[in-house]
Amino acid sequence: MLLHASLAFLVTTLVPLSISSPLGDPESNQLILNSPVITKPYDYKNGELPPTNDTEGWVDPRLNGGRLLDFTTKRLGEPLNLIISSLSDPYILTETGLHIYAKSIGFSEECLGLHYGHIHEADLGDGLGRKDEHFLARQYYFPIGGTCWESVRGGHHFRAWRQNGTLANSGAWFIGASKEKDSSKNHKIEDDGYNLGRDFMVERATSGSYWSGMWWRAEVEWREGLLPKGKHGVNHAIPQDGKVAVLTVHRL
Ligand SMILES: *[C@@H]1O[C@H](CO)[C@@H](O)[C@H](O)[C@H]1NC(C)=O
Ligand SMILES: *[C@@H]1O[C@H](CO)[C@@H](O)[C@H](O)[C@H]1NC(C)=O
Repeated sequence: MLLHASLAFLVTTLVPLSISSPLGDPESNQLILNSPVITKPYDYKNGELPPTNDTEGWVDPRLNGGRLLDFTTKRLGEPLNLIISSLSDPYILTETGLHIYAKSIGFSEECLGLHYGHIHEADLGDGLGRKDEHFLARQYYFPIGGTCWESVRGGHHFRAWRQNGTLANSGAWFIGASKEKDSSKNHKIEDDGYNLGRDFMVERATSGSYWSGMWWRAEVEWREGLLPKGKHGVNHAIPQDGKVAVLTVHRL
């Protein structure tokens, strides 16, 4: 009896103490904005430069001939449906920082490089043209087997590119998030897998996360009009809702 009471005491007092979350109220600031229609790329070779907007923390790739679909094949691509703005914690704008942040929201590195898969390219309109992905992260289910387990079973993953060419040197991460079926289906994206992949990351990021002594929580702003809604040009012909989540990730 006494033992039970003291165990209950330990559980209720020690758990909150040892985790000591600074997260507080989980409400996040949500806003939907429309991006302008861009009919032609800026003619920067003849000196016309787009208004790069540092106050937003990222630059619309379409201003310099880029797009919000990556290049999975020559013409088809997967949506870049999430942006981590450079108004975020400067640490996660570094490559090491993004790795750590990805772990905090439930991702880990690819399984020992055993299944890297096909490298995608993206053109972020920063003057570097199409460039290979800088980062691939896969969902981490639990320590036994870790990401290897996920690689077999399918799940969430994302690819990231940094916007850092001289024409748009914002430092923001542009991310293509999706949810895959298991590997017996050859890493095919689920029906609705693009929207699901993005929403999973937004949900994790806005509810707050923790890794090795650091806490973060993101604010999200939804953008419509950057990416056409539907399946036109989209790899596997899987439709997506055309919304891009812009995250500003704050260190707490
Ligand atoms: C830059 O972005 C801010 C924040 O979204 C906006 O208020 C401002 O009008 C933009 N400036 C230009 C030149 O587009
Ligand atoms: C842009 O960032 C990527 C990813 O960190 C890095 O590999 C690359 O060297 C950078 N390029 C430039 C021009 O700074």
